Amino acid sequence: MDPTPVLVSARTRLRPVAPDDVATLCAIRATPAVARWWHPPGGGWPLDVSPGVRRWTVEIAHAPDLGAVGAVVGLVEAHEGDDPEYDECGIDLFLAPSVHRHGLGTEVVTMVRDWLVDERGHHLVQIDPAAGNDAAIACYRACGFTPVGVLHGRERDTDGAGWHDTLLMSYCSWL
Ligand SMILES: CC(C)(COP(=O)(O)OP(=O)(O)OC[C@H]1O[C@@H](n2cnc3c(N)ncnc32)[C@H](O)[C@@H]1OP(=O)(O)O)[C@@H](O)C(=O)NCCC(=O)NCCS
Repeated sequence: MDPTPVLVSARTRLRPVAPDDVATLCAIRATPAVARWWHPPGGGWPLDVSPGVRRWTVEIAHAPDLGAVGAVVGLVEAHEGDDPEYDECGIDLFLAPSVHRHGLGTEVVTMVRDWLVDERGHHLVQIDPAAGNDAAIACYRACGFTPVGVLHGRERDTDGAGWHDTLLMSYCSWL
């Protein structure tokens, strides 16, 4: 796989996850607002990337109201399939609750979406948030993703108790 690049937007910088980020990213992932939607990590996360998966640490680049330059505020990942007959790629992320609702999610998802399209050559990007995750669905809508349909019982609840629906959303650069 090609090296994972550094990506920069107006207020954030995405750089490949490094060992020094692990404790901070695990702490953010454990906050209730994130743990509600992200399953508990396995050992080795987030350095244990599978083939086709890239993970970036989200840093503040220039947002004095949200944190110092270099502050770690989240993680975003992209996955790409390897079947040449299908265009398959997607995005997932979480941000620290302290920076929610300031437009950073929109900024980060748009940047990774554009990287997948412009640099990786994809035209279809898919995301499937939990159907009850209003924040994620609103964020992805703001990034140009539109609902495809509900996948009933697609995802296990993060507490392991049952299953819930997800909303498949897609972005096609041709439309
Ligand atoms: C999903 C997440 C990344 C969104 O990031 P964010 O920086 O807070 O989102 P933004 O500030 O860019 O908001 C984007 C849109 O979502 C809306 N939004 C954000 N939080 C919302 C909420 N809790 N309820 C309803 N709408 C919400 C904003 O109003 C904005 O809408 P607008 O463009 O119409 O103004 C963030 O909430 C998060 O990390 N959540 C926990 C982990 C998670 O759920 N990850 C996604 C798993 S699929």
